[in-house]
Order: sequence, then structure tokens, then C-alpha cells
Amino acid sequence: MASTSALEIDPEETVVDVTWKDLGIVDSLCQACEELKWKTPSKIQKEAIPLTLQGKDVIGLAETGSGKTGAFALPILQALLENPQRYFALILTPTRELAFQISEQFEALGASIGVKCAVIVGGMDMMSQALTLAKKPHILIATPGRLVDHLENTKGFNLRSLKYLVMDEADRILNMDFEVEVDKILRVIPRERRTLLFSATMTKKVQKLQRASLQNPIKVEVSTKYQTVEKLQQSYIFIPAKFKDVYLVHILNELAGNSFMIFCATCNNTLRTALLLRNLGFMAVPLHGQMSQNKRLAALTKFKAKNRSVLISTDVASRGLDIPHVDIVINFDIPTHSKDYIHRVGRTARAGRSGRAITFVTQYDVELYQRIEQLISKKLPLYTTQEDEVMVLQERVSEAHRMVKMEMKDIEDNKKSGKGKKRKGGGDNDDDTEQSIGVRKRVKGKGFKGKRKG
Ligand SMILES: Nc1ncnc2c1ncn2[C@@H]1O[C@H](COP(=O)(O)OP(=O)(O)OP(=O)(O)O)[C@@H](O)[C@H]1O
Ligand SMILES: [Mg+2]
Repeated sequence: MASTSALEIDPEETVVDVTWKDLGIVDSLCQACEELKWKTPSKIQKEAIPLTLQGKDVIGLAETGSGKTGAFALPILQALLENPQRYFALILTPTRELAFQISEQFEALGASIGVKCAVIVGGMDMMSQALTLAKKPHILIATPGRLVDHLENTKGFNLRSLKYLVMDEADRILNMDFEVEVDKILRVIPRERRTLLFSATMTKKVQKLQRASLQNPIKVEVSTKYQTVEKLQQSYIFIPAKFKDVYLVHILNELAGNSFMIFCATCNNTLRTALLLRNLGFMAVPLHGQMSQNKRLAALTKFKAKNRSVLISTDVASRGLDIPHVDIVINFDIPTHSKDYIHRVGRTARAGRSGRAITFVTQYDVELYQRIEQLISKKLPLYTTQEDEVMVLQERVSEAHRMVKMEMKDIEDNKKSGKGKKRKGGGDNDDDTEQSIGVRKRVKGKGFKGKRKG
């Protein structure tokens, strides 16, 4: 554990038996932590909470699953308790699902103090969000684009009295993709405010950080030797690109009974892979940016409730999502930005649990893979397989490929003719209805017996 010189306490000493009360947390919030079964503060919470309570701007850097949400939510709730005020804090997050999750955490911690939160994200109805805003919640959790939309178009809504700005996944929020929106937001909130930045990876570019206009920030850095979690068992598999699918099916079979998150590079490949696995009888559900927001949330809910054992997604699910039961992360397509690797594999092995991550490396991915190893300062072991065992699946997978091709074409045709929402069987082309079951049955008749639950 490392910390800045600005911290007076020896961080090593703080490891033992620090309580929430010791950090300066008031009784009602200590009670809330207890109810969530958070017995003692995590490292980042120990270090960041006292500083935030003192009114400092904080840059908090700590590994995935280490409790960063609590590290900013608790002191903000406490400040709110001392100074109850509408539009008190704004939490910016890069994805919609993460916004909902953070809101849930605020509500769980702040239930006894009656905190009112509002989630303002794209893909949902503007009007009903405007009504929610009119009720003047204490805490707004938003994705930048939709918030700007409301700042510009919703009468009577402004953030001129805001006291706290949090950028969760700050390096992502300060990235070019959100530049215009974030600048617009920063222009209409008070300069006299506290700013908190949190992430498992942080930009070293001072210029980028300056955009957040922090005031004498204190950097709190809590990490293990590597940027990935100690209890995460990581490996890679080196295979020809054309056999990726068959290896994926083999691994899912071999590790059946676990809960998987599989990452793909594009929406299209996410959908294709989901259809493929469903054709082969796996309980797989896709999550990507071309799905409607309701479908996205429904997919996540099913996976969270363990009704589906495989979630296949783009990087839209790579950051922040906290689904404790995820056992295995598979990088089916290698991440192009090495930092995304850290976030993706951090969907498992959270809060002290163990987990596994397997990264597919093909002949085209060697350079990207080397960059990842460099970033995490670690050489990963090879995931071993018996080639002949894998290849017996080839025929079945090829057959499923043919089905998927037809389904994908069907989906395309439907899109073109504008019938996307009225397929026979009643399902959307990208949803989690049972549209592929007919095909699956046909495939299932010929082989793959029994054990597959996912
Ligand atoms: N003090 C604590 N004791 C026990 N569990 C905790 C504590 N604080 C947080 N948790 C739990 O740990 C899990 C991970 O927390 P959280 O999502 O805040 O991690 P994170 O650091 O934000 O990770 P990521 O970088 O992936 O966003 C959550 O399920 C949360 O409820
Ligand atoms: Mg987080």
C-alpha cells in the first residue's frame, strides 16, 4: 500500500482494526455499513474518507472491486446530512448501467437519512427524467451526454448550487470521447465545490486531470504490486483466429457450472457470439450499445439473478459493474486499450473473492497482448488444452455457425424492412427472448448431450 506524503498516518498502521467511527463516520451511516455487512473500511475507504470529510479534493486510485464507490458515497452522504440541500452532488459515470448501480449504492447507504437520488442517462425518456429532476433530488448520477441535454433543454433545471462533483472511472470520463460534454458541465457548475476522481486506472497526463479543475488535490493510491487483483488467476490461450469459437465452446464446457462474462470487440460480434452459444444450448445473454436501454437492463438483471450464466458484452460492461458471483472473465476479443484489460478482468475477484480470467490471443493479437503484459508487469501462464479434445467440437460449432449466419441475415433483413421489433415469436433481434430456440433444438438433436447448463 502506498500513499502520498500528505497523509500523516503511517498507512501500514491503518491496516489493523480501523472502524467506520474512527474515520469520522456518523452513527447513522456506521449503521448503514453494518447493514450492508461492511464490517471494516477497505484500504481506499480508510484513506480517502477522512480526507474527503476534511473537505479536500481527492484523486483515488485503487484496484477493481476495492470499494471505491463507498469511498466517495459515504463522505458525500455525511456532508449532505450536515447541510441538507437539493442538487447536492453530481456523480458522472461513463455507462448507464454503472449509473444505476451507483444510485443503488447511495440509496442503500443513505436509506435511513432519506436521501433522494436520480439517475439521468441516455436511452430513457427525457420527459419522465425532467419530472424526476423537478422533484429536486439530492444526488444526481448521470452519464455526461444526457445530463448536458437536460442542462440545455429542461426548464428550471440547473446545477448552480452543486457542492460535490465525482467522476467515477475518472480517466474514462476525462477521455476525449466525453470532452465536449464534460466541458459543458464544468462551465455551469460552481468552481467553489469539492471534486473527487476515482478509478482503478488513472491518466498520468496532468493536462487531462487539470480539466477537472481540482483544487490542491490529494492523490490517494492504494494498490497491490500489480494493477490487477491478487486473488485473480490470469492466463492466456494462444490459438489461430479461425478456431476461436470452438475453443470458447470447449472452455465453457470444461468450466461449466461457473458464471462467465465474455468480452467482444464489437456489438456485432457480441450478438453473433451470443447467438452461437445459444444455438449450442448455453444460457447466454448479450449486452451491447445497439440494444435498447430496457433490453440492456433486462439482460443485466437476468445475469445478476443467475437466470443466465453467460453474459456476452462489449466494453460497455467492462468498467465498474459489481456482480459478485462472476467467476470467470473471458477476453474473447483482446482489448485494444490495455487499460480496459484491467477493468474487464476486474469484473471477477471482487472484494477479496477469487476469480479467473482467460484472454484469447490469436496470430493478430500478439502485439496488443504484449502491451497488456507490460502494463500489468506480469507474464501470464498459458491456459492448457488438449487440441484433439477441442477439435471434436468442430463439427457441431460449424453447424451452429450456419444457423447463426441465417439468423444474422434474418435480423439484418428485418432491420432493413423496419420490422425489427415484430419478429415472429415476438422478440427483438438483439434481445434475450427465445427466438433461437427453434434452431437450437435442431442442432441439439445431433450430439451435445446433457451437462450444459452454461
Ligand atoms: N468496507 C467494505 N467491506 C466489505 N465489502 C465492501 C466494502 N466496501 C465495498 N464493499 C463491496 O465491495 C464490492 C466492490 O465495491 P465497488 O463496486 O465500490 O468497487 P470499485 O473499487 O468501485 O471497483 P471498480 O474499479 O471495478 O469500479 C461491492 O459489492 C461493495 O458492496
Ligand atoms: Mg467502481
